[in-house]
Amino acid sequence: MKYSKKVIEHFTNPKNVGEIKNADGTGKVGNPVCGDIMWVYIKVGKRKTKKGEEEYIKDIKFQTMGCAAAIATSSMLTELAKGKTLKEAKKLSRKDIADALDGLPPIKMHCSNLAADALHKAIEDYEKKKKVRAKRRKDENQTNTNL
Ligand code: FES
Repeated sequence: MKYSKKVIEHFTNPKNVGEIKNADGTGKVGNPVCGDIMWVYIKVGKRKTKKGEEEYIKDIKFQTMGCAAAIATSSMLTELAKGKTLKEAKKLSRKDIADALDGLPPIKMHCSNLAADALHKAIEDYEKKKKVRAKRRKDENQTNTNL
């Protein structure tokens, strides 16, 4: 099995490794086939656009207990996702990550599932928490008006 130069670079020197304390969203996925696990943590920022405001991935980190391909794809994922809007980040696919690494050996393609899925879960987690916060705020405002 031969890995590309980029896979080896990201495996031997992975970027954005670690945990974000008080992350805005966390995604955890496991690979049932091999038992490997990965966590992705995101911090979401807001920036002004011509049309108003957009949310983007301000910071992202990962922890992966997995094979060389899982670590390299996680590292590449963080590089690809950082600075992207949430909408763009949701579209990042397993194939995008594998392509950015100049490909993965076919037997290792399943390892790239972890990274994309964990990011999507972290964004879902952020959006779920945001909805809960908005509902709580609305309920509090209603209570205050009723007092
Ligand atoms: S062998 Fe488990 S993610 Fe690669």
